[in-house]
Amino acid sequence: MRLLYFISIYLHILSATIWLGGMLFLVLIIAPMLRHPNYQQIAGRILQEAGERFRFWGWICLTTFFLTGLYNASYRLGGFSYLFNKEAWQGVWLQTLGVKLALFAVIVILSAIHDFKIGPLATRMMEQAPDDPATLRLRKQASWIGRINLLLALVIVYIAISLVRGMP
Ligand code: HEM
Repeated sequence: MRLLYFISIYLHILSATIWLGGMLFLVLIIAPMLRHPNYQQIAGRILQEAGERFRFWGWICLTTFFLTGLYNASYRLGGFSYLFNKEAWQGVWLQTLGVKLALFAVIVILSAIHDFKIGPLATRMMEQAPDDPATLRLRKQASWIGRINLLLALVIVYIAISLVRGMP
């Protein structure tokens, strides 16, 4: 059991490094680089290709967070049934986990809108009508969802640390 818990934590933290690292790489390295005039012609295609590849690993990470997170919580609480125990939810630890889960739900919904609706539409429009106001609006929406998700992810890591080490 302890080994499984250890592997679960390992996969949980590994997912955080891949997912957060990937988002930071897109925002800090790829997006600014593609604004350079040299890449204007191919920016849409690169963003689409990078976005589609990251989307695949992103959803693997989000699924891993949920499954290993539930396991981590049930191990810490001494059993899965505690997650449904009303009294247990009076405690600070589960309430903190509750906040984390609520933020996670927002991230999953925003990721789905970004990855399966606005993102693909924005990259398609970037190829067909790069200067169209509708394209610019979609690109802005996609960027803002990406930024909000990154911010929420940084807040989740802070909450995660307080789950393990207690509130500062
Ligand atoms: C965006 C999603 C998530 C990120 C980035 C994330 C990140 C992390 C990190 C970095 C830790 C380790 C903290 C440390 O050791 O100081 C952690 C611990 C933990 N996470 Fe998450 N997490 C996410 C989603 C979830 C979800 C959805 C759940 C529950 C279903 C969850 C439950 C837990 C639990 C219970 C721990 C404590 C593990 C332990 O030490 O026993 N996490 N998380």
